[in-house]
Amino acid sequence: MTLLEVRGLGKHFSGLHAVDDVDLDISAGRITAIIGPNGAGKSTLFNLLAGFYRPTSGTVRFKDRDITGMSPHRTVAHGIARTFQTTNLFEDATVLDNVLSGRVVRSHSTVFDAVLRTPRHRREERLNLDKAMAALEFTGISEYRGEIASSVPQEVQKRVSIALALATEPELLLLDEPAAGLTEEETGGFAQLIRDIVADGVTVGLVEHRMSMVMSLADHILVLDHGKEIAAGTPETVRTDPQVIEAYLGADHQEQEGAG
Ligand SMILES: Nc1ncnc2c1ncn2[C@@H]1O[C@H](COP(=O)(O)OP(=O)(O)O)[C@@H](O)[C@H]1O
Ligand SMILES: [Mg+2]
Repeated sequence: MTLLEVRGLGKHFSGLHAVDDVDLDISAGRITAIIGPNGAGKSTLFNLLAGFYRPTSGTVRFKDRDITGMSPHRTVAHGIARTFQTTNLFEDATVLDNVLSGRVVRSHSTVFDAVLRTPRHRREERLNLDKAMAALEFTGISEYRGEIASSVPQEVQKRVSIALALATEPELLLLDEPAAGLTEEETGGFAQLIRDIVADGVTVGLVEHRMSMVMSLADHILVLDHGKEIAAGTPETVRTDPQVIEAYLGADHQEQEGAG
């Protein structure tokens, strides 16, 4: 089943075609990877899907509903969560409070419920705590729940971002270079976490530079260069595509961390 359907999607920044006429189908229960050199438009594509940018052209449909140009708080309510290339946590808040912030989107009690501590509010608070704790367990970082986010190791911070995204109860999770800057061993742990997320019923979109990780995880790969698709298919098809080898694998095979 197609969960997300992208057609003719484009984003122009004053003359620069950051994303240019892209088509993409993300199948439910699968891992779809987006690869390409730095500046290819991968993060911009994720920003378009999650509503952080408005497309210049094209459509995005999620669960058969047109979500083109919808704001991030609405796309997350519909079930799309994303993490950012550079972790953006509330640095002075605890790990648990960061993850709890993901629950806002699923909460319904009003400020009056909170002030009056109505049963509805207390019920929701308990549920939110349970869900946040479950996300911390799932990502393997519950022992850090009381620590200030900026004080925990980088690998843990990256897991906090994923826990925060999972706390919103997404159907589609978009991960933008989740393993950037991590050691080989830590990267293996992230690959396993991604497999666990999919096994738990969440569909994953993955932007990742490490080819070994992409090739071992992805069911489907879209290769972008200068905003355009240059290849798409299974890891096997993409790996042997001459255009991919030239544009990406050949020209640029160091690990890199871009902006955005
Ligand atoms: N907000 C923005 N304003 C102007 N240009 C942008 C903006 N965001 C991204 N770009 C440009 O769009 C292109 C694609 O960027 P990006 O999507 O971050 O690439 P990737 O994630 O593949 O490295 C780059 O040339 C980048 O400089
Ligand atoms: Mg990027």
